[in-house]
Amino acid sequence: MDVELEKTIVARHVLKLVEGIDLLGLGSGTTVAKFVEALSSSQLARKIKVIPSSSQIEAIARENNLEIVDPSYGKPEITIDGADEIDSDLNLLKGGGGALVREKILAASSDYYVIIADHTKVVERLCTRKPLPIEVLPYGLEWTLRVLEQSLNVGIRLREINGALFVSDNGNYIIDAYCKPIEDPESLEKQIKLYPGVVDVGIFTNLADEVYVAYGEEVRVFSI
Ligand code: A5P
Repeated sequence: MDVELEKTIVARHVLKLVEGIDLLGLGSGTTVAKFVEALSSSQLARKIKVIPSSSQIEAIARENNLEIVDPSYGKPEITIDGADEIDSDLNLLKGGGGALVREKILAASSDYYVIIADHTKVVERLCTRKPLPIEVLPYGLEWTLRVLEQSLNVGIRLREINGALFVSDNGNYIIDAYCKPIEDPESLEKQIKLYPGVVDVGIFTNLADEVYVAYGEEVRVFSI
């Protein structure tokens, strides 16, 4: 089955989780966009306020007439997010769309953090198919690049879009590190966060409460 259809199936499947919810966090990416569309065409949308994690999903929420509030409004009861890769311990690789910093803040601040994905996102170890995104400050960029390259001992690339450097919603750059499949995501996450200039890294450990994955028309639920 087409993965786009799987994204729609899983997005509709988790609508039931937001019944009765007042404040909902929204991750970013194409799967969350499908969730926003499904939500906006249901009755639930009338009562729910959303806190978006990026300009991408904020624009989609706005187009779909959802009520948008900012983080000062309160803590989301649930955040629905996507992922680039998911391992068997429910660690996540995120940041394919460059929204990892705000997504991690939302994930950590929500009462319940739910991931929705098509089956291609499930891997044995993170960084099996995708590079590892790291958001870095523009100040001292060359130094940060050198430190990351030397200490991780992997190829790294500054992310570009349409021939220009990609700039995150926070005004920072994204480095993609071409790591081998990660053996210990938790210690690598901690290690990378300690380098000066690093804002955050796209490894999310101990955050996902539930992961919903579409395998064709079937949706499987994983939790720790
Ligand atoms: C955004 O930076 C990412 O973390 C997304 O959540 C992730 O890339 C999943 O996106 P898709 O749903 O488009 O695959």
